[in-house]
Order: sequence, then structure tokens, then C-alpha cells
Amino acid sequence: MPKKVIFDVDPGIDDAVAVCIGLFNPDLEVVAVTSVGGNVSPAQAARNVQVILSQMDPPRWPRIGAGTAPEHGLPTEGRRIFGPDGLGGVPFDVAVRRDLRPSEKVICDEIRAAPEAVTILACGPLTNIARAFLRDPELPSLLGQLIIVGGTVSGPGNITPAAEFNIYCDPQAARTVFRTPCTKFLIPLDVTNQIELTLDVLTRIPEETTRVGRFVRKLLQAAFRGYRQELGLEAIRIHDVVGLVALTHPELFTFVEMAGDVETMGELTLGATVFDRRRVPAWRHNIAVATKVNKEAVLEEIIRSLHTAAEIAERQNPYCDGI
Ligand code: RIB
Ligand code: CA
Repeated sequence: MPKKVIFDVDPGIDDAVAVCIGLFNPDLEVVAVTSVGGNVSPAQAARNVQVILSQMDPPRWPRIGAGTAPEHGLPTEGRRIFGPDGLGGVPFDVAVRRDLRPSEKVICDEIRAAPEAVTILACGPLTNIARAFLRDPELPSLLGQLIIVGGTVSGPGNITPAAEFNIYCDPQAARTVFRTPCTKFLIPLDVTNQIELTLDVLTRIPEETTRVGRFVRKLLQAAFRGYRQELGLEAIRIHDVVGLVALTHPELFTFVEMAGDVETMGELTLGATVFDRRRVPAWRHNIAVATKVNKEAVLEEIIRSLHTAAEIAERQNPYCDGI
């Protein structure tokens, strides 16, 4: 029985690659892709979700949700790597719908439609998740599990010395989610930073004869350009794709139950994830955190799942080359 999944994303190239793989993973049923502002504005994120779906054209389209910015707005720094449109400026055609429902409404509907059976893979700021929990107080008890890509345990942040980008964008939402009783997993930078792609990966992913290969190659080439131009780095990180592997292959990760919270007031530490690791902790465990990863196996799984997605996409819809 395929696992029902909601991708909550702020595409972002790594979000986009994760959704592409998820759409054609035979073990998953993507019931919704909900957009949230982060790497790009909420409106651009909603458009980018439709770009991904238009280009992939799965046999059964998931529901799409449109996010809106947090009350305090979104930071704009940190949006350089993926370019102003979030997908590296690659000119993809898209059929944009105007009647999208709010992301938190779609999340509530899909979880209520399948109690205790839905996994949310949160690849962006936690704005939508917090709003869904506040909109429907029973939702946390009806959710199967929540996997959050973001935060840090021991390592530095990436948007500030203390904070990781997804948490930093909406610290209050992150605190609400961390403090909500439900089955939660965190895939922090300490783990996702360990999986780096170098240019030779382009010799191993599906060819341009497939639409998954064409789309992912364009995105990864843009990501390599962005990392090189903005950070002077020759290797890229695909945090959200690692998060997807944590969903499909948790055995490749070591998880430790921890007690975590989020700094919502700090000047230097705003958005930091803080864990009570004292010898006699006072906080109660509330999240299972990935502390180790078999990085070689994760990289091989990413390559394998891209080929599986490419093969299934062509088999299911051989005449689509994106619109
Ligand atoms: O810090 C990395 C995370 O922030 C990734 O999800 C990336 O897409 C951005 O959303
Ligand atoms: Ca993301």
C-alpha cells in the first residue's frame, strides 16, 4: 500500500527535485503539494509547484495548495543561490491556475480524509503546518507523521551563524510545531550537509531523453551555477532530497529522541533550534532527530530513485515533454 504524502515546499531547486522523485515513487501516493514562501515569495512558490507538475505531468495530479507569508513577513536574504524565481531562472512553461486553495486548508482536508495515514514532508518554513494545527486542533492526533527538513543540532546555521533557513523564516511557526504533540522527525543541517553533489553526478542521473532527466539536469546545472557564483563552491547540497530519503529509507539514518525548541526572540540567535542535552534534562522529548546518516547509501538511493522516476514517468506518459 503506497504511503500517502503531502510535500510542503518552497521551491527551491532541492524542493523541486524531491517532488519530481516523489511523484513517480511507486511506494508513495503524493496526495498534495502545498507551497509556502521561503526560498521565494509565496506567489512564486505556488507558481513553481505548478511548473514542477506541468513539467512532470503525473497520471494523477496531487492537490495543490497556495501559501501566504507569515504575519511578520519573510526575510529576503538567502534567496541568491536559486535565483530570483527559485528555479535558477530556467524558462519553464507552466499553466498557472488561479483557483488554488490555501495550503493549510488542503493539508487539513487531506489529513482528515485519511486519518493517521498521511505523512507530511516539510521542506520549507513551517508556516503552513502551524496554521493547519491551529485551524484544526484535532489535526496533530490525526496526522501520521511529520518529517521536517531543517534546524541544526550541533553545527552552525546557514542563513545566520545560529539558524537554519527554514526555521529562521518563521521561528514562531516552528516553535508552535515543535511544541505540538505529534510524531515528528527532524532532518537537520548536521545530516543534510553531509550529502554533497559534485559535477560528476550529471554523468549518473537520467539522460535528457526523459522528461525527469531533462528537468532535473536543468535544475541541477542552475544550482551548480548558483553555488559557484554566490558561494564560490563547486559542490551543491540538496537538503530536501535527503529529507525524502529519510522518509523512504529511514534505515539509512540514526534517530535520537530529543527535547527541542526554537528561539523566537534572539537578536543573534533568532530561529536557532535548541535541544536540552543536559545530563539531567528538564525538557520533555518531543522530536526524533537524525544524528547520523549513511551518506554513501543516501547518495546511491538518490541516483537510483531518479532513474526509477524517469523510467516510470516515461512509461506512464511517453508523449509528455512538459508543456
Ligand atoms: O536550509 C535548507 C533548506 O532551506 C532547504 O529546504 C532549502 O530548499 C531551503 O528551503
Ligand atoms: Ca526547501
